[in-house]
Amino acid sequence: MCGIVGYVGKQKAATLIIEGLKRLEYRGYDSAGVAVWQNGHIEVAKKTGRVANLEKEAARHKLTGTTGIGHTRWATHGGVTDANAHPHVSSDGRIALIHNGVIENYASMKKFLAGKGYTFASETDTEVLCNLIAYHYAKEPEVAGENRLLDSVRKTLRHAHGTYGIVVLAVDRPGELVTARKGSPLILGIGDGENLVASDVAAIVSRTQSVVYLKDGEIALLTAGSFSISTLDETDVTPVIDKVTWSISDAEKGDYAHFMEKEIFEQPVALENAMRGRFSEDGSTAQFGGLNITPAEFRQIERFMFCACGTALHACMVTEHQIERFARMPVECDYASEFRYRNSPLFPNTLFFVMSQSGETIDTLAALREAKRKGYKVLAVNNVVGSTIAREADGGIYQHVGPEVGVASTKAFTSQLLIGAMLALYIGRMRDLSFGAGVRMVNALKGAPDLVRKALEQAPHIRAIAKRYAHHTDMLFLGRLSLYPIALEGALKLKEISYIHAEGYPAAEMKHGPIALVSEKCPSVFLAPQGEIFSKILSSMQEIKARKGPIIAVVTEGTELPAGLADEIITIPACEEIVLPIVASIPVQLLSYYIAVERGCDVDKPRNLAKSVTVE
Ligand code: G6P
Repeated sequence: MCGIVGYVGKQKAATLIIEGLKRLEYRGYDSAGVAVWQNGHIEVAKKTGRVANLEKEAARHKLTGTTGIGHTRWATHGGVTDANAHPHVSSDGRIALIHNGVIENYASMKKFLAGKGYTFASETDTEVLCNLIAYHYAKEPEVAGENRLLDSVRKTLRHAHGTYGIVVLAVDRPGELVTARKGSPLILGIGDGENLVASDVAAIVSRTQSVVYLKDGEIALLTAGSFSISTLDETDVTPVIDKVTWSISDAEKGDYAHFMEKEIFEQPVALENAMRGRFSEDGSTAQFGGLNITPAEFRQIERFMFCACGTALHACMVTEHQIERFARMPVECDYASEFRYRNSPLFPNTLFFVMSQSGETIDTLAALREAKRKGYKVLAVNNVVGSTIAREADGGIYQHVGPEVGVASTKAFTSQLLIGAMLALYIGRMRDLSFGAGVRMVNALKGAPDLVRKALEQAPHIRAIAKRYAHHTDMLFLGRLSLYPIALEGALKLKEISYIHAEGYPAAEMKHGPIALVSEKCPSVFLAPQGEIFSKILSSMQEIKARKGPIIAVVTEGTELPAGLADEIITIPACEEIVLPIVASIPVQLLSYYIAVERGCDVDKPRNLAKSVTVE
């Protein structure tokens, strides 16, 4: 959601913080701000809009201090205004705070503080929290050997209900930052004579690759030369320093116009990375190192439950189809946000999976916790190493596709599809999928990167189609079986980044409602590869054509469609069913991307969206 960066060291804090915020802008871009300790006071610069606006504003403030905090905001409490932008400063001017999350009991805190004479310049829960820290800080006595700021933050957080990742700066403690988390990710960057804290590795990887993942309920004190971690109830924590495996170039877009474009074209390599070392020596099945469940335990499983949000849910839906088809085992799939409140009955011997690129999506995390509370083992498919979901799951599979920065997920999605397909193979081979069928599927999966390379060759052709269709206001995406979720994903991509209204539907179901929308003004994208129900999809196309609906058909190379049926044809290479959803994703990603570019949209930062949604 919001992006957080804090720095304490010898360099100009504002410069490094703003550089970090630019890398975090995908987390939220309603407003941005920075606060720096200098010359005995806290200087704050903040501005609505992008980090570029903040950069100009910061230049006016001449920020030279070497301790500071910065934030990009995705609005929750209070509109998008300069006043609501972070950092917030307490009304006594002593404490500055940045915050990611939601403080649920801020109203009662505010009433209490108003009674004590504190005043508020914004509508945010964060400003209330900031003033409560200031209140405790003013009351807290200075005790030798103890840190008054740390103690005041602890006291405040014991009263806070909700979620937070915070960083605090105090006017009379230059060279110190206090940071704490509950429900919002925070990572400490351990540098040489400097320390950092951020909501995401991307913001600190240019300074250090040594990181400590802060856990819920932990609080840390940072100075330029030291850091210490403890809990809210004052127990010391021995930190574990991890090494980040990717470098700054992974988080830069290089020669590409957008991160989304880069990430679309990275997919062949991303898939290679996601499958590396994950096939058995005999080449007949998949293997995963981190499941933490023995094959014997796995054989006891009688059904699977998958939960996720957004694009990751679409990957779960494809996985549902493939496990049922290839492993012949029942699978249920649910929106994480619904599952957590639905109290749905779960069968015994169910293995629970969550999928999440970021590993921080609050609804997915809540679904994981709910399933664990009910006594189920929960495994995670997740991209960001060390994320909260990765840590709280009983085991799982990392996607290994490097940082995904574009808000619209692409390479993370296809790697989730790949891992889902490998799971179907793995489970199938434990059941009645033969050695020969397994070998064939392994070979098909190993061929996925080249098939995707081939599908990407259609990019110039798809770009030309996009130019012709970019002016439309409505579009349908239609597919069947394992490509129905790809139709949903195509529609989601298009609406996310181009703001065209789009709906995904099972192709045959279209005649039970969406067909009412069909006219020459509403094109339909048909996912129509060769396969057992190809002729049925052709019938659905005829029904659209009879009502003058333009058709963009995605078909297998070499397919001859009846004359005049499709207005545009995009081909994908012929492939095995197990990899078809991966290959068919490429044209819908490219189509959405080029349409959004044609419409002049800000592809990497679509309005109102955030890459990782850490609030309900
Ligand atoms: C947000 C993003 C989507 C993403 C979803 C789930 O809505 O904009 O692109 O699919 O969150 O994110 P996750 O990190 O859990 O996969």
